[in-house]
Amino acid sequence: MPGPALKTTWRTPVLAWLEQHVPARRLTHILGVEATAIELAQRWGADLDRAGRAGLLHDLAKYFGPEQLLSEAERLGIPIDAIQRSTPHLLHADVSAGLARELFGETDPSVLAAIANHTLGNSDLDILSQILYVADWIEPTRRGEDVEIVRKAAMGSLRSAVLSGAEQTILELIHNRRLIHPRTLLTRNWALCSLQEPSQRC
Ligand SMILES: [Fe+2]
Ligand SMILES: [Fe+2]
Repeated sequence: MPGPALKTTWRTPVLAWLEQHVPARRLTHILGVEATAIELAQRWGADLDRAGRAGLLHDLAKYFGPEQLLSEAERLGIPIDAIQRSTPHLLHADVSAGLARELFGETDPSVLAAIANHTLGNSDLDILSQILYVADWIEPTRRGEDVEIVRKAAMGSLRSAVLSGAEQTILELIHNRRLIHPRTLLTRNWALCSLQEPSQRC
């Protein structure tokens, strides 16, 4: 079901760039995220064009190597913390946002924030950031028990899907004895608190 964003000409140079920098399998994921983000925007009343742009641009730096991610983050003025320095892949979302602005002229703060937040999240995510975070989890080619948990949550509300996504990430990191980035914890706590009754909100 092509949404409005799928018909616009701005996609052509982005697709050409992606075909040169991203494996075909990943391109399928990116197009799935774009379509899912548009569907979620329709369902939850967000801007369809912004959702599509965030989806198509979200993984520009996904296949950059560790050294390239670190050098691009430095060049773009993105702060790098100790966990990101030890796992540079965590920088691909922030670097993708910088490249979306630099290569494709994306200036919308909400689109850029959604791209930057799609992996680690943050506290106080706006609706577009929630949509992209969830779309990245549940686009049609994603498989797995954890994905099904997030998909089921997304039938209820965006925030409960964000909560489930952050919790599944934390569980997997604990299972594999890996570091948990503080932004993942911020995302989980923000989503949990925002789902509570106003009188009991943390
Ligand atoms: Fe990503
Ligand atoms: Fe992605």
